[in-house]
Amino acid sequence: MAKPSTVFVCTSCGSQTRQFFGRCSGCGSWNTLVEQKAAPAADNRRRRPVVEAAEAAGQPRRSEPIQAVGERALQRLSSGYGELDRVLGGGLVPGSLVLVGGDPGIGKSTLLLQSACSMAGRASVLYVSAEESAQQVKLRWRRLAQSSVGDPAGDPGAGADFQLLAETDLELVLQELEALRPAVAIIDSIQALHDAELGSAPGSVAQVRDCAAALARIAKRQDTALLLVGHVTKEGALAGPKVLEHLVDAVLTFEGDRFASHRLLRAVKNRFGATHELGVFEMRDRGLAEVTNPSELFLGGDEPSAGTATIVACEGTRPLVVELQALVSTTSYASPRRSATGIAANRLHQILAVLEKHLGLPLSRFDCYLAVAGGLEVEEPAADLGVAAAVVASYRDLTLPPGTVLVGELGLGGQLRPVGQLELRLQEAARLGFTRAVVPKGSGLAKAAAGLGLQLLEAGGVAEALVAALGVNPADDRA
Ligand code: TYD
Ligand code: MG
Repeated sequence: MAKPSTVFVCTSCGSQTRQFFGRCSGCGSWNTLVEQKAAPAADNRRRRPVVEAAEAAGQPRRSEPIQAVGERALQRLSSGYGELDRVLGGGLVPGSLVLVGGDPGIGKSTLLLQSACSMAGRASVLYVSAEESAQQVKLRWRRLAQSSVGDPAGDPGAGADFQLLAETDLELVLQELEALRPAVAIIDSIQALHDAELGSAPGSVAQVRDCAAALARIAKRQDTALLLVGHVTKEGALAGPKVLEHLVDAVLTFEGDRFASHRLLRAVKNRFGATHELGVFEMRDRGLAEVTNPSELFLGGDEPSAGTATIVACEGTRPLVVELQALVSTTSYASPRRSATGIAANRLHQILAVLEKHLGLPLSRFDCYLAVAGGLEVEEPAADLGVAAAVVASYRDLTLPPGTVLVGELGLGGQLRPVGQLELRLQEAARLGFTRAVVPKGSGLAKAAAGLGLQLLEAGGVAEALVAALGVNPADDRA
């Protein structure tokens, strides 16, 4: 019998060759050829029995009117972590595919092993470790089992249904999945699995895609919720989870500073819930613990200091009170230095230009550094006003009155634009004891804010907002 053959398919134009080339002979693109199983012939052979079986069972038609499609309530399975459930949209959906991506060493295995232990008490769990030996997983499990950090404890208990398989061969993993039919299966990691029929190395695009597709077929068929771990390289490219994003129902990314203890779990795609939800964890010596009150993590020290401002960012439906710090100092370079940690550098440049133009501050003669406390990345423009206030406060050596939060997007003309979910943000600020909020004009929330014990200061432009926030006019004494 001929050896199972593979072909190389161009991801750009779809043309096929038997041999690998750096450049596609069809469309001329570079590095677009990807190895695949020579599928068509095998596919035709496989499809026929399926059709025959359906006909024999008396169901030749497979489509049905949408009104007749049975609805079943989603029976979500709690992962044992409130924070993970929140990001998943309320728990794990049977038959769904969830990809958990993140840098090496960030804690993906720890998170999944811990929630596997918790779920094992309520459902059958299969943990496939393709990277670590069974011994290593057991050691980690022991360590987590002694966990004293909140729920979930690492110990699945005596009656729990927790199967461990240390294997890298796709065929054997599929076989085990079919034999056990677990409610939840965890594959750690998809890059380490390999299909012997493909010639390429584990972790290559062809391998990752092929393995994930095979696992997905089985998971959907037997209603197993599948959690896949995926690595991201520094460039986020090499056969990374990008290839899988279309295939899976949800993509979660686990991120954080490896030198700090907290970790952020985000949903970037979710077919069963909102995206951009955020879960916050803390890595302790005995595993991950959830942080249910993250705003406190992103607030700096108690003492207000010059050049700090507090904003309320919104991650999904979750408001987070975050402290921003700015340092503005006379430059000793020909072109001043600008550096931003946690917000986009372009955003900082734009805000500095607006302040220079509309407040007349000569910021182009000053170095400017900006940092978001706690290592959080704030992407939304609602942080603009806070950035502006921190920069101006540092430039003027002013301290914002304690208890002040700022929310608002800055237009290029110096005007303040409204932001979404303002009421939610105000509620979070009030909950943490803030008493003043500077917001864009026309929010219509004066009454609601008063009810929360917040003094609402509405402003139409950046100058007006800063006067309201700082109590002095920053543009008064033009340098
Ligand atoms: P791990 O889950 O192996 O990361 P990943 O699977 O994403 O590569 O986590 C690795 C890091 O977590 C490692 O540097 C050690 C740290 N860690 C703790 O600090 N406490 C613990 O209890 C555990 C299990 C790991
Ligand atoms: Mg790991």
